[in-house]
Amino acid sequence: MAILVTGGAGYIGSHTVVELQNEGYDVVVVDNLSNSSEKSLDRVEKITGKKVKFYKADILDREALEDIFANEKIDSCIHFAGLKSVGESVAKPWEYYNNNITGTLVLIDVMKNHGVKNIIFSSSATVYGDPAFIPITEECPKGQCTNPYGWTKSMLEQMFIDIQKADPEWNIVLLRYFNPIGAHKSGTIGENPNGIPNNLMPYVTQVAVGKRAELGVFGNDYDTHDGTGVRDYIHVVDLARGHVKALGKIEEKAGLKIYNLGTGNGYSVLDIVKNFEAATGVKVPYSIKPRRPGDIATCYSDASKAERELGWKAEYDIKDMCADSWRWQSMNPNGYED
Ligand code: NAD
Ligand code: WQD
Repeated sequence: MAILVTGGAGYIGSHTVVELQNEGYDVVVVDNLSNSSEKSLDRVEKITGKKVKFYKADILDREALEDIFANEKIDSCIHFAGLKSVGESVAKPWEYYNNNITGTLVLIDVMKNHGVKNIIFSSSATVYGDPAFIPITEECPKGQCTNPYGWTKSMLEQMFIDIQKADPEWNIVLLRYFNPIGAHKSGTIGENPNGIPNNLMPYVTQVAVGKRAELGVFGNDYDTHDGTGVRDYIHVVDLARGHVKALGKIEEKAGLKIYNLGTGNGYSVLDIVKNFEAATGVKVPYSIKPRRPGDIATCYSDASKAERELGWKAEYDIKDMCADSWRWQSMNPNGYED
């Protein structure tokens, strides 16, 4: 039996495929490569020494999914496929709702047709909006999202909850990621943003490698220890391992489960700059810019539920995250492009 990984050529997906193969799982990847390169999967094969079965297909393409489920013995699905750029989602809401929500509804329907009712879904801390309390436990009420991307996650969570309530044969794990950064220790797979990065760490590494002149720090007047925004950065390999642990809940037939995947530590933008410089010896010039619309001051997790119930805990610290992001960027200044 195999695990179907949608979006498996992407940043978190490719790291998860490595961890799944390392744990002995058979993996089938479906990805339309809209935000990724098939080269990531060649690199995964080099890391694990195992073949990755890959289908280039869109999850909106029902016939293609039907064929995959007919040809492969799929036991469970880990569902990463989705569009994820916050700013782009404001400009292209229809595309985000269609891709993320319709795509997931098609996937769920095809799974059901083939009697596969096990799924792990990539949700996000964004569903907490401006969180009601910090550190954020899973009991923290969901909040108002500030963009269509965030709403796709919030709405999909509700859909999964309703589907599992109506048919308790479904086993569903909703994983709320905090801020994934870092890369595999080999430096051969990592985050590969298109164009100007929106997220902090890829921007920092592109400044460090000389592709961008300086980092803009979005606001230094927040109510935080140094005025810059505080987040819970988590190493992507820890995050990937969280998915392998979450498969345990699927195997236990645990019904509907929700977990935060974070470290429980908050670091500010300037903490990241300092830790990056200390870990790599490379200077990151920056200047203070206005706040970015939609940003919140502070967001970090209480990740103790995942530790209690999944036996999972993040192992890498902020220096590892910085060093590994830098190794990937410096070994691959143009990402997967030659
Ligand atoms: P990514 O863009 O690197 O990976 C997503 C993959 O899905 C890409 O390879 C893309 O080509 C594929 N894809 C998109 N639409 C598809 C479709 N219709 N059919 C088939 N494939 C499709 O992003 P990532 O950072 O690896 O994120 C993975 C998941 O985790 C996403 O759902 C994202 O929203 C979620 N998430 C990411 C973060 C983050 O900060 N990176 C945080 C929280 C949640
Ligand atoms: C982190 C901090 C910025 C860039 C986003 C999504 C969220 C989730 C993860 C998917 C903030 C500051 C950033 C820069 C900066 N994705 N910053 N200069 O906003 O916490 O979360 O990615 O679900 O939904 O919203 O992450 O990396 O963009 O920002 O000063 O050039 O860095 O203001 O304080 P964010 P981020």
